[in-house]
Amino acid sequence: MSLHDPVAETGASYDNPNDLAAFWMPFTANRQFKQKPRMLVSAKGMHYTSHDGRRILDGTAGLWCVNAGHGREKIVEAVQNQVRELDYAPAFQMGHPKVFALASRIAALAPEGMNHVFFTNSGSEAVDSALKIAIAYQNVRGQASRTRLIGRERGYHGVGFGGISVGGIVSNRRFFGPLINGVDHLPHTHDLEHNAYSRGQPAWGAHFADELERLVALHDASTIAAVIVEPVAGSTGVLLPPKGYLERLREICDRHGILLIFDEVITGFGRLGSSFGAERFGVTPDMITCAKGLTSGVVPMGAVIVRDEIHDAFMQGPEGAIELFHGYTYSGHPLAAAAALAALDTYAEDDLFGRAAEMAPYWEDAVHALKGLPHVIDLRNIGLIAGIELESISGKPTARAFEAFLRCYDKGLLIRTTGDIIALSPPLIIEKSQIDEMFGLLADVLKALP
Ligand SMILES: Cc1ncc(COP(=O)(O)O)c(C=O)c1O
Repeated sequence: MSLHDPVAETGASYDNPNDLAAFWMPFTANRQFKQKPRMLVSAKGMHYTSHDGRRILDGTAGLWCVNAGHGREKIVEAVQNQVRELDYAPAFQMGHPKVFALASRIAALAPEGMNHVFFTNSGSEAVDSALKIAIAYQNVRGQASRTRLIGRERGYHGVGFGGISVGGIVSNRRFFGPLINGVDHLPHTHDLEHNAYSRGQPAWGAHFADELERLVALHDASTIAAVIVEPVAGSTGVLLPPKGYLERLREICDRHGILLIFDEVITGFGRLGSSFGAERFGVTPDMITCAKGLTSGVVPMGAVIVRDEIHDAFMQGPEGAIELFHGYTYSGHPLAAAAALAALDTYAEDDLFGRAAEMAPYWEDAVHALKGLPHVIDLRNIGLIAGIELESISGKPTARAFEAFLRCYDKGLLIRTTGDIIALSPPLIIEKSQIDEMFGLLADVLKALP
């Protein structure tokens, strides 16, 4: 054990390390990556720069998070000033001004009646916090038997035990034992036979929400605390809610006293051309989880936005009692709060949510112009999100889309793939010419793909 610096000792530098072994990379084919690394060394606006000096057009806003574009001066300065002024303040039984201001700003963006915000450091933590708040809320309102949680097949809710339990992505679940008890799942809503090549929300499939009635009949409403869904499922490969589906879920939850949680880690902060998916779809949940675009990806931060009745139910008993035994050392960290306030300013000043809405029809046309290219079996879009589903190579699922990812990267475009689906979600500052460039490059890659 020592504090010596093995990187410096070998004559390498932090900008050019010569040993990649120590870092165990997340959600990455580590051995493959380390043979031919893809390193990003700087970013500005719509572009990354790779370690070999190439400009890479960012088709994914990093990981669905850099909504304001890279290197925004206002956010950079806010973080710099904050670290100088107050680097850290304890999160428990202490506060700092910016986090209170931020909570009010977020509440103002959220649907009416959702005026309370619990801070976390990531989407996964926001999800686990929301699930805990849901169960605890049922308890404090005298419905302690309501502990069951309902997720959805193909849902992605991060990687905490709560999130993978309600989530429905098989490889994220199967290695990790029995997960948490008392969870059930709705069916996913993806159906190529009825809905392939839909522009925006598919017309067919609202009835998938009725499956919740079946789960209620099976388990009884008195055992169910909450349902959690992504308004648009992102990480599983861009699955859109059929028209009427979210409305119906809301109705069924109301009928049975079940809380509805929207996981808006991807759909929050402008991605759909609105503050949240809740606004876009006109359906108000009981809690919203968010992260990513909250700080435009600059400093990690997540949050749970909570309906007033839920928050208020906890505010009883002696005033000196802690109402919720939950929180993180870095809940509402000063740097994250400063970054988030500056990100929200930037969104407002540049009207980036409105811009995303204005750009969406152009984006939609560009997505659907890929129809007929080799291997493409579906195209989906909403806001500034696209899903391009490819036919899998027999016996080699994921291989075709991953090859497209590698080829795009070599040509200077960052895309994201999940299974054999390509997902695109650029920063909201994207220009029409960059949309053309992005889909032009992608089309070239698809045409040449084995
Ligand atoms: C809907 C949703 N929930 C939760 C998460 C997890 O967020 P994080 O990776 O910040 O923990 C993600 C990440 O992509 C997400 O898309």
